[in-house]
Amino acid sequence: MDKVMNGDDVDDHGQGGIDAAIQDYYGAWFDEGSRLTTRSTAGKIELLRTREIIAERLVPESRVADVGGGTGVHSEWLAAAGHRVRLLDPVPVQVERAAEIGTFRAEVGDARELPWPDGDVDAALLLGPLYHLASAEDRHRALAEAARVTRPGGLVFAAAIPRIVAFASAWLGDEAPDPLPPSMIELLERGTFRFDHIRSPGAHFHTAEELIKELESAGLVECEGLEGPAGPALEVRGSEGDDLLEPALTIARRFGPVPGVRDLSNHLLAWGRVG
Ligand SMILES: C[S@@+](CC[C@H](N)C(=O)[O-])C[C@H]1O[C@@H](n2cnc3c(N)ncnc32)[C@H](O)[C@@H]1O
Repeated sequence: MDKVMNGDDVDDHGQGGIDAAIQDYYGAWFDEGSRLTTRSTAGKIELLRTREIIAERLVPESRVADVGGGTGVHSEWLAAAGHRVRLLDPVPVQVERAAEIGTFRAEVGDARELPWPDGDVDAALLLGPLYHLASAEDRHRALAEAARVTRPGGLVFAAAIPRIVAFASAWLGDEAPDPLPPSMIELLERGTFRFDHIRSPGAHFHTAEELIKELESAGLVECEGLEGPAGPALEVRGSEGDDLLEPALTIARRFGPVPGVRDLSNHLLAWGRVG
């Protein structure tokens, strides 16, 4: 069962409070292991699209770091495809579950301070940390760390949550209050997430343009929407939208990269090569 986070649960300005909420949410409340596999059609599309974008860019037997890898859903398929994978996540319960898969290393850690030497991997995945880090400085640290541990010419992939979809999802099937609460205006204008209407301890929700700018400052550049414009509606239908998976996937593949449309996906995926 999801927990509805609210302003009483954390100090909504402090990363320390957000980090504590992350431990609580992923460690005790939310089954991240099923999010991309059985929980919803949108999750299945996220997995398929993430996989196809990453897989077609990796060379065989790549050394891959899955930072914020949760219970290991991506690490598992990467290892099965012959890549040499290591996973890192701050939530011990998730790391234990990932380690049980047995085909890759898993350890507890933080994206802002990776425990590996410079140039130690061919690709780094940051599929989660960026929307859980509130300050631009912390997000820059995480991107810089991913680029540091990746060899020159290697790839960094980073996921984000578009703020317009986060806003719309809060009011799907419900009427938005008029006037909008200040927290919602702040979410739309600055991407700051304040826990009052949306589940999960998010911290910052990007626009595609903002994400590209942040990646550019770490030397990285492409960006696509993963689930496409049907994604938010499919998320509401949970696992009952599987009959729409193929058409939604076709739309996502066609329109995922298009500026102006990509922000309508539930997730953005950006990537680039380390200079
Ligand atoms: C929505 S889950 C995504 C899991 C997986 N990467 C995926 O794409 O399905 C977000 C993950 O980011 C992790 N995370 C949160 N803050 C982090 C940080 N500072 N450093 C590394 N990982 C973090 C969480 O523990 C969680 O496993």
